[in-house]
Amino acid sequence: DGELCLSRSLVNSSDKIIRKAGSSIFQHSVEGWKINSSLVMEIRKNILRFLDAERDVSVVKSSFKPGDVIHYVLDRRRTLNISHDLHSLLPEVSPMKNRRFKTCAVVGNSGILLDSECGKEIDSHNFVIRCNLAPVVEFAADVGTKSDFITMNPSVVQRAFGGFRNESDREKFVHRLSMLNDSVLWIPAFMVKGGEKHVEWVNALILKNKLRVRTAYPSLRLIHAVRGYWLTNKVPIKRPSTGLLMYTLATRFCDEIHLYGFWPFPKDLNGKAVKYHYYDDLKYRYFSNASPHRMPLEFKTLNVLHNRGALKLTTGKCV
Ligand code: CTP
Repeated sequence: DGELCLSRSLVNSSDKIIRKAGSSIFQHSVEGWKINSSLVMEIRKNILRFLDAERDVSVVKSSFKPGDVIHYVLDRRRTLNISHDLHSLLPEVSPMKNRRFKTCAVVGNSGILLDSECGKEIDSHNFVIRCNLAPVVEFAADVGTKSDFITMNPSVVQRAFGGFRNESDREKFVHRLSMLNDSVLWIPAFMVKGGEKHVEWVNALILKNKLRVRTAYPSLRLIHAVRGYWLTNKVPIKRPSTGLLMYTLATRFCDEIHLYGFWPFPKDLNGKAVKYHYYDDLKYRYFSNASPHRMPLEFKTLNVLHNRGALKLTTGKCV
């Protein structure tokens, strides 16, 4: 029963689905939605065959020593040196060890959140996961502010903090992290070459400012394991998006998972324009071949899971 099995024809015609973003395929009702606890347990059990979020959510200090050389997960020919700073910020034990929650929110970054008034509802969950250090304060009414776990691709330094060129960029970043307190800051540092300078700068700022955020760096096997799980369930994803990764990890420690801000389409069901991000002017990258993600296919999959009571997907207003 835990199998998701999307029919082959649907998967193959996902390009057509993208263009038909207004079609009923995307419709899902939140009224009358009920959790299907046995399916939730079945999915958790199946995912555990591929990965254990407690362990794979982060490498730990004892895995490496400073000076170790590792191969990038998605670019095996290139290598990275484990620096002293990086090593000192690796957690002693998994930041998710023995943590269990009744309800969790996974918040994606789609513009569908604007005017949703979902802030209160999101903050009411026991554990809130957010992506890519998305700003919250200015958007609190729609997205809430609680952040127990937040991801940060190294590219965020360039994209949202001016590559730390000015002191004011660095201050803005330190201020953003200081708001996180004891939350987990999850940095995929070992995926591909290119962001290592940024990761080092981030690590140095955390150490220099004695920020209390709990840094975590995903294991070298995580992305392959997550991809393997979805592939086995006939969802051929080249590279899972951060949002899908977070849902997959959350199945380990959350009984009820609520998703917000997942809508990788330029229009809503009424034909109204939807921004790619709720907080900036980035464009829809997944239409280009350069994008490693298949977010519309991911969305379709999450929609199937919503309709079966495995998770709750909110794409409308919360009040
Ligand atoms: N998302 C979505 N629809 C959008 C934008 C984002 O469903 N219009 C979801 C995706 O699952 C995405 C997550 O929200 O991974 C976080 O968004 P973002 O920070 O934009 O992720 P990207 O940087 O675009 O992609 P990634 O970090 O996964 O490489």
